[in-house]
Amino acid sequence: MRVLISGAGIAGPALAWWLAKTGARITVVEKAAALFPHGQNVDIQGTARKVVKKMGLLEEVLRYNTTEKGTQLIDAKGRPFAPFPVREDANGASATSEFEVLRGDLAAIFYKATKDEPNVDYLFSTTIEKIVSNDDESVKVQLSSGETQKYDVLVAADGQWSKVRKQVFPKDAITVVDKNMYVCYWTIPRLPMDNSWWNIYCALRSRIITLRPDPHGTIRAMFSMMPCNAAEKAAWEDASRKDRKLQQELCRSHFADAGWQAQRLLSSMDQASDFYFQAIKQIKMSKWSKGRIICLGDTAFAPSPLTGMGTSLAILGSYVLAGELSKLNAGDHPAKAFDSYETIFRPFVEEMQQVPWIFPDLVHPQTAIKRWMLSSFLSLLSKIVAIPWLASRFNGADNEDFKLPVYAQFEGEKST
Ligand SMILES: Cc1cc2nc3c(=O)[nH]c(=O)nc-3n(C[C@H](O)[C@H](O)[C@H](O)COP(=O)(O)OP(=O)(O)OC[C@H]3O[C@@H](n4cnc5c(N)ncnc54)[C@H](O)[C@@H]3O)c2cc1C
Ligand SMILES: *[C@@H]1O[C@H](CO)[C@@H](O)[C@H](O)[C@H]1NC(C)=O
Repeated sequence: MRVLISGAGIAGPALAWWLAKTGARITVVEKAAALFPHGQNVDIQGTARKVVKKMGLLEEVLRYNTTEKGTQLIDAKGRPFAPFPVREDANGASATSEFEVLRGDLAAIFYKATKDEPNVDYLFSTTIEKIVSNDDESVKVQLSSGETQKYDVLVAADGQWSKVRKQVFPKDAITVVDKNMYVCYWTIPRLPMDNSWWNIYCALRSRIITLRPDPHGTIRAMFSMMPCNAAEKAAWEDASRKDRKLQQELCRSHFADAGWQAQRLLSSMDQASDFYFQAIKQIKMSKWSKGRIICLGDTAFAPSPLTGMGTSLAILGSYVLAGELSKLNAGDHPAKAFDSYETIFRPFVEEMQQVPWIFPDLVHPQTAIKRWMLSSFLSLLSKIVAIPWLASRFNGADNEDFKLPVYAQFEGEKST
């Protein structure tokens, strides 16, 4: 089987890893000139950990842990309160889990584990220019390099705003759910005053500033906000479609009076090589495949960072999709595997796309009274999370949340 994957993020390389075990020939095209290192902490939750363990990469992921000690809030005077330390046991309730890794580090781990496989090729600075045909016999594409190639399967794993998806699926097959929240991430130099917690400061008017450590000796900065009126909404939505300069200007005018370390962050923004602006939206598709083409990861079902499940879904989806493809007999149409994959995986995806009730409005207080209520609530919560049922409500990370199918070709893998 010849498989073309668009996108070397998380889903693309993870799928290449599993497909390589089935004897398929895999080509991954990536728009960026090198692996795209952007992004901050992602979680590997529940059954997705089992998949990473089956890949023999769990220790490598742990080695790249973000070194974060836990999550704490910062009050209006800059003092920390309501600490939620990372817990080693499954009952810990914290926004930080012990399986957190930077998105870029995880992408690199999956890439390194596949790049030397004899049946996997990566082509950087390459995109799919045009889908020429998608029929009973093959899917034919024209690459940006000019060459035309035929494959048995094309996987769109080129992220939330996938160009492949846009070429194949009509607009009404895709639902974009707007979470009315805008985020920017970038990296700043670490100063002696920085600590190893995820420090979250809620400024008024629905603005959040956070600082957290990484394993590379730098600090990861984030602004997050929810528009308070129609004019703000229009400005942020417009910025999400514009360039970095305009996005940073908007941040400057919006966060100048936010307090805490806002000035430090604003003055470091334009030097950052990895400034990234994201409108928080979910992607839902009525069907993930068409003919020989299938969407995977954020392309098919971006759940938004509010769920903390984007990476876990990409990893689980890769395993199940590769597993269902491995069951095909010679001559079978891949749509047979696409359909069984979707039947197995869609109910879990739909459940995971439910955003926890606490987010995002509650954590973006507009007024002083709401911020006081949030602070009191979180202070109290940090003291009572030892209550097991409450903790498991917040962090069921070690639960087997998705029942992993067993595929003959994947058994007997090394594990750590
Ligand atoms: C820059 C960035 C930062 C992120 N930061 C966070 C974060 O801090 N926290 C969090 O929870 N989630 C974050 N995410 C989302 C998270 O990566 C996903 O939810 C999850 O890991 C699933 O990844 P994916 O492989 O489906 O998509 P992605 O990780 O988005 O990877 C898609 C890949 O496709 C490439 N690509 C894009 N267009 C094309 C094209 N036309 N042709 C070929 N390749 C293309 C991209 O360069 C990228 O390498 C971020 C995503 C990105 C892209
Ligand atoms: C987490 O990262 C730190 C620093 O990079 C490292 O010293 C530590 O061993 C790592 N933890 C695990 C469990 O690998």
